[in-house]
Amino acid sequence: SDQELEEHFERTIDKDQRLEPRDWLPDGYRKTMVRQIAQHAHSEIIGMQPEGNWITRAPSLRRKAILLAKVQDEAGHGLYLYSAAETLGGDRQDLTEKLITGRQKYSSIFNYPTLSFADVGVIGWLVDGAAICNQVPLCRSSYGPYARAMIRICKEESFHQRQGYELLMKMMKGTQAQRDMVQDAVNRFWWPSLMMFGPPDAESSHTEQSMLWKIKRHTNDELRQRFVDMTVPQAEMLGVTLPDPDLEWNAEREHYDFGEVDWNELKQVIKGNGPCNTERVARRRKAHEDGEWVREAASAHARKMTEAKA
Ligand code: ACO
Repeated sequence: SDQELEEHFERTIDKDQRLEPRDWLPDGYRKTMVRQIAQHAHSEIIGMQPEGNWITRAPSLRRKAILLAKVQDEAGHGLYLYSAAETLGGDRQDLTEKLITGRQKYSSIFNYPTLSFADVGVIGWLVDGAAICNQVPLCRSSYGPYARAMIRICKEESFHQRQGYELLMKMMKGTQAQRDMVQDAVNRFWWPSLMMFGPPDAESSHTEQSMLWKIKRHTNDELRQRFVDMTVPQAEMLGVTLPDPDLEWNAEREHYDFGEVDWNELKQVIKGNGPCNTERVARRRKAHEDGEWVREAASAHARKMTEAKA
């Protein structure tokens, strides 16, 4: 009966077990999960662009090989996540349409330009660092296929984070011009990285319900604080300054205090008014259209194989 199904759902969550595609799910849970997974998948796919910008200009074969591997990982994460959305009845074609017509979101962070090769390092360190901070707890998310996808994704993200930090350490030991490039990239990416965690808890529309459903395990502000605490000592090791005069250890809270994020900027970027939104979506749309013949050929091949079997 409906009541039994609902009880099964509640019990699974109470016992910290995973919900699976075969299980009955309330419409709201399914909707939230598809929304979050789709947004996450779109972020991985759009996230290939800012760094992809530097593949042809990487300063050495080694750097190019690392960057290529990293960008290919992002594509893999995107496909993995679209598959997870499909277990909930999402359709990849439909999700892609929603992305390229601006009806579904992707992370604000990928709407900022990558102006120098130091950006590759800073994206690895800060952006992938923030992504790990946000995604490690999602390995315990209540929806099984999403939680399992996160395990592999987090392992790869941690390689991304390491390659970024290693690149920055190298540059910081280089010339003054290289150190300046790193500092400039940190100045541009620090605040947008903090915005990745979403609006403050008081303004987050989904957090409360998602915490009850154990889709999210921590609030946006909790994860943002964790990221700041983790990153400050890394910045010191590196010898860069984080562009926040209010950043200070608070012995009482045992956390770093930090300045107010420009929430209006986040709102604007989410609304489509960030520095690169139009360009990112247009490029994705073109790639999708240019891939039409590949999809047609693959479908024709699949049809032939089925016919041959029959
Ligand atoms: N960029 C774009 N949109 C955002 C961002 C952001 N940084 N933060 C929040 N939003 C959107 C939410 O999607 C939501 O939009 P909607 O109601 O139209 O669907 C709205 O702003 C309100 O935010 P919340 O209620 O806080 O949303 P939610 O509970 O989903 O929390 C969060 C946002 C933390 C990003 C969550 O969805 C999440 O953990 N997602 C999985 C991780 C992810 O997507 N990472 C992508 C970047 S990392 C990478 O790809 C390398």
